[in-house]
Amino acid sequence: MPRKTHLFTQEPHDLEQAGQWLREGKLVAFPTETVYGLGGSGLVPEAITGIYKAKGRPRNNPLILHFPHAESVFEEADPTAPLFHLAQQIAQIFWPGPLTMVLRRRKTSELCPEACAGLPTFAARVPEPLLTRKLLEFAAVPIAAPSANRSGRISPSSYQDVFSELNGRIDGIVQGADCRVGIESTIIDFSQDRPKILRPGKIMPSDLRPFIADFPEYQLTPTAPEAKENEQTPIAPGQFISHYAPTLPVELDIVSPDTTTQAWLSFHEVPAHFQGLSFVLSPSGSLEEAAQNLYKGLRFLDIEGQKRGLKSIAVSSIPKENIGIAILERLSRAAAPRPQAS
Ligand code: TXA
Ligand code: MG
Repeated sequence: MPRKTHLFTQEPHDLEQAGQWLREGKLVAFPTETVYGLGGSGLVPEAITGIYKAKGRPRNNPLILHFPHAESVFEEADPTAPLFHLAQQIAQIFWPGPLTMVLRRRKTSELCPEACAGLPTFAARVPEPLLTRKLLEFAAVPIAAPSANRSGRISPSSYQDVFSELNGRIDGIVQGADCRVGIESTIIDFSQDRPKILRPGKIMPSDLRPFIADFPEYQLTPTAPEAKENEQTPIAPGQFISHYAPTLPVELDIVSPDTTTQAWLSFHEVPAHFQGLSFVLSPSGSLEEAAQNLYKGLRFLDIEGQKRGLKSIAVSSIPKENIGIAILERLSRAAAPRPQAS
């Protein structure tokens, strides 16, 4: 039976109630600066199970826990881990902000194992919007929140997108602003001897280097999706190749699309003579703006393109620099072969 999805405003009494619902184990989606998250209490196994069910997400793909401030994160982390103090310093510089850290869990950590897919580590972040941190303070428990979309599909960057993905499957949605960054946080693993980027995002290796001298470049080597998706063992991010995918197939680096069969996602311009369906990510050619509009553009072309009977979404080339690297990583996953429906 579908449940009624309640819409919360940004008013303090609404945020307080949304926070209370989260603490009680209900599922409430909320804005962050990256994408909207689907929240559930990290202490309540039924809430975590509910998140996996509402998203249709494989159980071996662990979730990110959201906290209102860095102190509450490090209360859960193992202080004897070799990079514990480095992670604390990085937190001081980059939190609140679009950075997720994977840390070893403290023996006394109260996080339920379901929230971390049974791993000895956990992923944590402190989101930037004041509204989100107020909500997390009202909740007063760590909040697990994957992106608020059905598994493998396009992440939502507005509350309307969350509504169209999850209405009737979750308890509530906080109606915040559109997301400023537009793509998911950078994930860095601090649980081993050396830090390592697991997912690219707005915060890049060059941002880390002033604070961690030998910080490594990206080493993103995804493995085959079919090989991993059915396994019981937990996985790290980047291991499901097909992800962030619209219904229409996606084709990359297209210079001149066929208007009769393709919708066009262009980085910064569409020639005046182009008569087909198109979306420009950044008219001024800014990669930051392109990231902000990426999921909105994909979603628009997917819905409109299907209505018009188009066969695919063609994407123009995008500069492989700065946040462009993270945009291209998301697009290459959207373009990857899809697992066969079973
Ligand atoms: O920007 C974001 O990070 C958004 C917003 C809502 O905060 N959240 C998000 O969550 O992107 P999700 O679930 O879509 O991505 C979480 C990623 C997964 O790829 C998962 O494999 C990885 O984090 N992850 C979580 N816990 C981990 C752990 N202990 N070790 C390694 N990877 C982990
Ligand atoms: Mg996601």
